[in-house]
Amino acid sequence: MACYVRLMRREDIAQVSEIDREAFSTLWPPANYRHELENRLAHYIVACDDEIRVEEPEVKAMPQKGLAGLVSRLRHLFNHDRFFGNEFPPSARQYIFGFAGFWIMAGEAHITNIAVREKHRQQGIGELLLISLINLATELDARLITLEVRVSNTAAQSLYFKYGFTQVGLRRNYYTDNREDGVLMSLENINSAPVQANLQQLKQAHSQKWGVAAYQIAR
Ligand SMILES: CC(C)(COP(=O)(O)OP(=O)(O)OC[C@H]1O[C@@H](n2cnc3c(N)ncnc32)[C@H](O)[C@@H]1OP(=O)(O)O)[C@@H](O)C(=O)NCCC(=O)NCCS
Repeated sequence: MACYVRLMRREDIAQVSEIDREAFSTLWPPANYRHELENRLAHYIVACDDEIRVEEPEVKAMPQKGLAGLVSRLRHLFNHDRFFGNEFPPSARQYIFGFAGFWIMAGEAHITNIAVREKHRQQGIGELLLISLINLATELDARLITLEVRVSNTAAQSLYFKYGFTQVGLRRNYYTDNREDGVLMSLENINSAPVQANLQQLKQAHSQKWGVAAYQIAR
């Protein structure tokens, strides 16, 4: 697996919103992700790849006069900055496979989102994101991790069960779009030896299956 995990940045918001739209029926507008990046309780990560770049729509600028205008027209003509010493166009961004985040308060990390682009699912990326969230929550001294998941979302539930989460409650009519119930799940005592040992084993199995060399979150 060529992808790695790092903290989410402002420049990721367009792709994160795209993934959000694809994954969730109740859309979280991009402005919310912008707020989240400024929220001290919120922690977001992305799984991305340095090798793949995506180009985002250019913001149209007023035509410039003189030499600056000529350079700008030449750049536009060649449509690539390598002629000017840069490997990628200025609008190019790292490709993002998926993202995840939680809010942390009073020792509880509550997962708000975890999603992988449809075409990259079932390739170990959801697991990579969950391992990274658990590591980050442990680093930030959380004692437990909680989340809600739709009763119909068996794929996500299976991922959480695999990592030791258990069902601790049911929120009736929790989801506003179709009044679906939400299963409340939690992973407790994340710092304890048994939880950490289980995580270590799962990490090892994941690393062997998908060839992940390290699980550090790049900052
Ligand atoms: C849930 C989600 C993040 C999983 O990501 P993913 O990259 O496909 O997951 P992985 O490939 O890492 O799979 C890890 C585990 O998840 C579970 N899983 C993933 N897809 C599954 C599926 N279609 N059916 C059943 N289990 C599934 C399995 O337990 C799997 O472990 P295994 O390979 O040992 O069977 C992804 O399906 C997604 O983005 N869904 C839409 C958004 C969403 O529902 N998020 C959860 C909100 S609570």
